Amino acid sequence: MACATNAISLSLSSNPNSKLSSDFIPKLNRPVNVSLCASTSAELDPGRLFLSRPIGLSRRICANATPVMDQSVGERSSSVPTIVEVDLGNRSYPIYIGSGLLDQHELLQKHVHGKKVLVVTNTTIAPLYLDKVVDALTKGNPNVSVENVILPDGEKYKNMETLMKVFDKAIESRLDRRCTFVALGGGVIGDMCGFAAAAFLRGVNFIQIPTTVMAQVDSSVGGKTGINHPLGKNLIGAFYQPQCVLIDTDTLSTLPDRELASGLAEVIKYGLIRDAEFFEWQEKNMEKLMARDPDAFAYAIKRSCENKAEVVSLDEKESGLRATLNLGHTFGHVSNRNWVWIWRVATWRSCCSWHGYGC
Ligand SMILES: NC(=O)c1ccc[n+]([C@@H]2O[C@H](COP(=O)([O-])OP(=O)(O)OC[C@H]3O[C@@H](n4cnc5c(N)ncnc54)[C@H](O)[C@@H]3O)[C@@H](O)[C@H]2O)c1
Repeated sequence: MACATNAISLSLSSNPNSKLSSDFIPKLNRPVNVSLCASTSAELDPGRLFLSRPIGLSRRICANATPVMDQSVGERSSSVPTIVEVDLGNRSYPIYIGSGLLDQHELLQKHVHGKKVLVVTNTTIAPLYLDKVVDALTKGNPNVSVENVILPDGEKYKNMETLMKVFDKAIESRLDRRCTFVALGGGVIGDMCGFAAAAFLRGVNFIQIPTTVMAQVDSSVGGKTGINHPLGKNLIGAFYQPQCVLIDTDTLSTLPDRELASGLAEVIKYGLIRDAEFFEWQEKNMEKLMARDPDAFAYAIKRSCENKAEVVSLDEKESGLRATLNLGHTFGHVSNRNWVWIWRVATWRSCCSWHGYGC
């Protein structure tokens, strides 16, 4: 495994300043039907395949695709989304993953409650994707009206003052309890919109449309929502699960390289701390991920979501296991620094926590 670590750090550091323009990036359009679900065989579709996890947990992954390590990265097919289920009893929800999902209007529309929707986004994302999301919500659905609130962009705005802008808009628009909030953006928007949905009228329906790798593989899944306080990050918040997470992988085409790298740190995290097979796959495919290969990305998002969904379904409120996922944030947030350094710190921390040294 020492070899493996070096291999990944080399491929990560080999092209840290690559300039990839969005028109160079092909569409991600190879869906694979895989779902994470409870282990009782009665709940399983015939023909689904059990995969034992290398992590010694009691639940198992069941999938109706071939085992993940054997998936060929060349085949492309229909626009059927990959679906990963987050199994939380009556708060369970699907994560849809695929290319062109914002054009499949029924996917979003079936999760909307009531006739009023508030899209929460920011000044960077709005010009790129707001119209598309409004279309997805309203096409063939004339009874729904959509309001939006466009927040300033950046972690420094993840605070009470910005949160109030969401409540102001919701109250001015006379939204009632049967409305739906939609988070359109990265982790900052997802966390703020989710918290607003948890608090507005003591809780309204909520949908996540994550647009960064970080948000697609981590922050949009699992229901942690919140804002920062001047004395610390994410100190004010709530556990509040969405109705669905819709990951249209085409949105990654506009993501800056720096944000891509930061999100990849989260992908590596799952391999490091709980999924040896995925770690091996990353060794072989890291250069493809850095080059935004669409099939490699579709697979990495799916596998990451499966890992996150499994952890969340075992420890929703972070009483133990879920805290291990915070590793990725530690090094993901320093992604401007040298990748080899990040990798060494991450690996060292991971080994320490694995062996109980409490780092
Ligand atoms: N809730 C959780 O479980 C959880 C987990 C991890 C991190 N987080 C939170 O997530 C936040 C970080 O999220 P992030 O890394 O996504 O950062 P971010 O939301 O700030 O997004 C990064 C930048 O990319 C821009 N952007 C987003 N999507 C884009 C797109 N498709 N094209 C072009 N630009 C795009 C954003 O406007 C922003 O400028 C932190 O606040 C962190 O606390 C939450």
